[in-house]
Amino acid sequence: MKETESRTPHVKFYSGQEIPLELHKVRIVQKLHLRPIERRKQAMEEAGFNTFLLETKDVFLDMLTDSGTNAMSDQQLGSMMVADDAYAGSASFTRMQEAVRDVFGMHHVLPVHQGRAAENIISKIFVKPGDVVPMNYHFTTTKAHIDINGGQILEIYTDEALKIKSDCPFKGNLDLVKFAAVIEKYGAAKIPYVRMEASTNLIGGQPFSMRNLREVNAMAAKHGIMVLLDVSLVGENAWFIKQREPGYETTSIRDILHEMCGLSDLIYFSSRKVSCTRGGGIATNRIDLFNKMKDLVPLYEGFLTYGGMSVREIEAMAVGLRETTDEAMVGQSPAFIKYLVNDLDSAGLPVVTPAGGLGAHIDAGGFLPHVPQAEYPAGALAAAFYIISGARGMERGTISSVRDEHGNDILADVELLRLALPRRVFTLSQIMYVADRMKWLYDNRDLVGGLKFTEEPAVLRFFLGRLAPVSDWPEKLMAKFRKDFGESL
Ligand code: F0G
Repeated sequence: MKETESRTPHVKFYSGQEIPLELHKVRIVQKLHLRPIERRKQAMEEAGFNTFLLETKDVFLDMLTDSGTNAMSDQQLGSMMVADDAYAGSASFTRMQEAVRDVFGMHHVLPVHQGRAAENIISKIFVKPGDVVPMNYHFTTTKAHIDINGGQILEIYTDEALKIKSDCPFKGNLDLVKFAAVIEKYGAAKIPYVRMEASTNLIGGQPFSMRNLREVNAMAAKHGIMVLLDVSLVGENAWFIKQREPGYETTSIRDILHEMCGLSDLIYFSSRKVSCTRGGGIATNRIDLFNKMKDLVPLYEGFLTYGGMSVREIEAMAVGLRETTDEAMVGQSPAFIKYLVNDLDSAGLPVVTPAGGLGAHIDAGGFLPHVPQAEYPAGALAAAFYIISGARGMERGTISSVRDEHGNDILADVELLRLALPRRVFTLSQIMYVADRMKWLYDNRDLVGGLKFTEEPAVLRFFLGRLAPVSDWPEKLMAKFRKDFGESL
């Protein structure tokens, strides 16, 4: 076993309680501010009731995303000091390439500035107008890039995927019966690839099983369809396979990653997630695919040995990718998420179960049944939760969707508030605070109303769109908070 492949020690608490234990120590800290509720309400108004538009000076716990916000290790920070500044042929890129080969078993590597840049190149090269791309679930930027190239995504998840309460260990699985039907209906020539997303983001960070990937690969291979694996959250998916899939209990994360990538033709990643840095990459063992894509890297990103990234990030990425094989690292965030999800679940709150990777996902539809979907319950819950706690999450519901050709909202399958838990960033008492305030909000949920758009961008509207409450519900919520908590922040 390599040094980075430490096993998660199983520590039992005398009390019998299952409490996640940090296997790292804090050596750099950043001061946080918890503003009074009056300022938080005002900040939410200034931000157009969109948590993306808040400034971090007004945010206590930033649970918007884990993207670019995971804590780096001392080894990563140290590596940035030995980066090799060169436009072409940088030794930092060689070290990153070696790390991709070692961790994913993929030989040909293209650097890009972040995950969606990989999606741009892959969609431009492989998706033609009229094509369909089946996948276990979409991610917002993935769908936008496929759409813009004239393709259409087809989500072929299993019946368990969108159930809020479930004990299905692999809600991220792709439905093979539906996959066969898609091939039958459209024909393999219209399917440039099937996309599998590790720890499926928008349905609650839910993993797929190795068995499912093996079956997807077999069916795709039979029809000459390529398998594309989004490995942005692959460490956690591998960790769940080890925890939940019979036969993998003693397999190392590195071996699981190799097996997953071995069942794929092409992989891509957002390094903002997978390696706790910034940046991204595409990798394959097929030289024909590599050659098709490589000319677009200097065109859109930068030369083939930096791809729009700083060499310091590339250096830290190499170290971070290797750390993805460390169970104590990739298991930390899921352990904290499980603690939070189980606490909310046992208190009767509507939260997606089983706990996945990335964050805790609150079912805004179940939380605010009196807010119609057309008034964006997930956005309203995100705004209300920020106002009463200072913690900002992200709307993953109809605001993150699009309008149809008649201008009507395409209602999301599920209305979720995502509370992301970036790796190694929060302490357990901060997580306990989040749970406490969420329980208070649940008891006062009748006070929360809906939202309406006041400014709506045509593409990816959730990033920059501005909204307003449909009534004076934020005032009423604030008044109740003051009544219950007095002068407390
Ligand atoms: N694929 C997945 C599964 C992602 O979660 C993301 C980003 C991307 C691709 C795009 O990568 O941001 O580096 O361009 N997810 C972030 C999030 C934005 O908040 O979940 P990117």
